[in-house]
Amino acid sequence: MRLKDKVAIITGAGSGIGAASAILFAREGAKVVVADYNLKGAEDTVKKIKEQKGQAIAVKVDITKEPEIQNMVDQTVKAFGTVDILVNNAGSNEFVPFPVLQEADVAKIMDVNFMGAFRCVKAVLPFMTEKMYGKIINVTSVMSVIAGKGQNAYNASKGALKMLTQGMAYDLGCYGINVNAVGPGMVRTTLTKQLFANPDRVKWFEEKIPLGRLGDPEDIAPAILFLASDESKYMTGQTIFVDGGMLATR
Ligand SMILES: NC(=O)c1ccc[n+]([C@@H]2O[C@H](COP(=O)([O-])OP(=O)(O)OC[C@H]3O[C@@H](n4cnc5c(N)ncnc54)[C@H](O)[C@@H]3O)[C@@H](O)[C@H]2O)c1
Repeated sequence: MRLKDKVAIITGAGSGIGAASAILFAREGAKVVVADYNLKGAEDTVKKIKEQKGQAIAVKVDITKEPEIQNMVDQTVKAFGTVDILVNNAGSNEFVPFPVLQEADVAKIMDVNFMGAFRCVKAVLPFMTEKMYGKIINVTSVMSVIAGKGQNAYNASKGALKMLTQGMAYDLGCYGINVNAVGPGMVRTTLTKQLFANPDRVKWFEEKIPLGRLGDPEDIAPAILFLASDESKYMTGQTIFVDGGMLATR
């Protein structure tokens, strides 16, 4: 019960890495707000948590819309009284080669992956500063430090989020708030379904991963749990890459 009675908001918890984290957090005693713009996905995650006797609510949120984020926080406080942990996990990606990349494509990805996280932190911050306690975990990517083909906007958004993690760690440390990131490698989720539908692509990646396989959401969630728990209380501004060793080969 490493998160006993802690209140955690996890964005994008209607599927993939966010859903696996929500289920794990609830198993460790947290009261979980499963936030996603896919309400059906969020409700499915809550159902799984409740089947295991955990506590959770589903909240519909689009993290590009500030009023919806405020509503997410209001719902959290109404249900559970406060916010202790924020996992900025919601994210999106599109493959667009640079010659045809438009300003609007970049703005769209930045709006979700970078500004979305920024907005969510702003909304929960008053609760964390008031009690001088908080854990913020940003889900970045190996793509925050290495380039992917046709992923200019995604690379930029995750690189920016990595540096925001470090900047916030600096500015929020005096309030007892830890800010860290988890950078997944190649993980089978809805986001990567199309990419990994091609067996040649899967083989190409597997050859670059020392552990020889793609990751599952359940491979990533324990690192997020560690950063949300007090076991990591002397860590801030760090990124833990959970990538089967992929970065070690670069
Ligand atoms: N799958 C991978 O290989 C991989 C690798 C590195 C990083 N990541 C990151 O992990 C995070 C989770 O992705 P995933 O792979 O589990 O994908 P996923 O598609 O399974 O989950 C992402 C979730 O975010 C939600 N979402 C997207 N935009 C949103 C918005 N504007 N407001 C609210 N919710 C929104 C989606 O509805 C979805 O449920 C993302 O930030 C992604 O960039 C994934």
